[in-house]
Amino acid sequence: MNKKIILSGMRPTGKLHIGHWVGALSNWVRLQESYRCFFMVADWHALMSEYKNSTNIKEYVVDNASDWLAYGIDPKESVIFVQSHVPEHLELNMMLSVLTPLGWLFRCPTFKEQIAQLKDKEINTYAFLGYPVLQAADIILYKANSVPVGEDQLPHLELCREIVRKFNSIYKTEVLVEPQAMLTSTPRLLGLDGRKMSKSYKNYIALDEEDNDIRKKIATMITDPQRIKKEDKGHPEICNVHAYYAVFVPEMKEEVDDWCRNALRGCVECKKILADKMVAFIAPKRDKKKEILKKKDYIYDILNVGNKKAQITAEKTLVEVKEVVGI
Ligand code: TRP
Repeated sequence: MNKKIILSGMRPTGKLHIGHWVGALSNWVRLQESYRCFFMVADWHALMSEYKNSTNIKEYVVDNASDWLAYGIDPKESVIFVQSHVPEHLELNMMLSVLTPLGWLFRCPTFKEQIAQLKDKEINTYAFLGYPVLQAADIILYKANSVPVGEDQLPHLELCREIVRKFNSIYKTEVLVEPQAMLTSTPRLLGLDGRKMSKSYKNYIALDEEDNDIRKKIATMITDPQRIKKEDKGHPEICNVHAYYAVFVPEMKEEVDDWCRNALRGCVECKKILADKMVAFIAPKRDKKKEILKKKDYIYDILNVGNKKAQITAEKTLVEVKEVVGI
């Protein structure tokens, strides 16, 4: 059976947290069964914004890849690799750059937003403008049919499709495959404080968080602000704790709804129970990750094998591309 191909990636800029699990990783784990999957640690993309703290990137490459393995990415099923170890990405990036108009890049909403938001990172750079071109190269090298991404990445996917069409049209070929975005269906999980979950707000639970820290963090979560006393009836639809139940303990959703609406249990108790559930969810994988990180050779072997497998596919595409271009 010829499985369809998936490629996706994450930037190794920090620790992975439960938002990454809900928004991406859980999806990846599921997709492994029915697709040929390539999962990439996008360290060049990380460097574009983290070039001033570049020494941390290597550490996060290994850390994030260990999370992937602990949470169920199976290196026997899927190819796990590191972008910078497959130099074909940069070669194809160049070949796509020559035909990508500046207007497409300057108009990209993510470019404008990031420049405005990440002032301290000084990402008003040549490389950062080309972020979506490198991302297109990532996808095109593996002839991916689908790319599981969050909504924020849709402009990049659209740009990739435009680049593919332009390339195929100029060189009168069908060598490049137009990928589809595959949106995650789960709603975005907010941070512990109700803002967007983000590294810089420190409002997340890491995928390798210790039990005590999970409990402490959940205890700080903001619930329905109108429910001041336990006897007050609450509104689960606006409560972030309830949203966490819906994602991590869906079988309790109705029950928790009833506790809250009818003031049967207070927020403190509700959070304690959620914390127990989150500990039960995270602890086994966190411990597995610790085991993985104890045997450094194991993770390096997996990445080396993945890099080689990825390169075989990438090189094939690059040879085809060079042939049609005539370079
Ligand atoms: N830009 C993606 C993000 O920030 C990461 C990424 C890099 C990626 N290359 C990719 C995602 C290729 C999908 C496909 O999340």
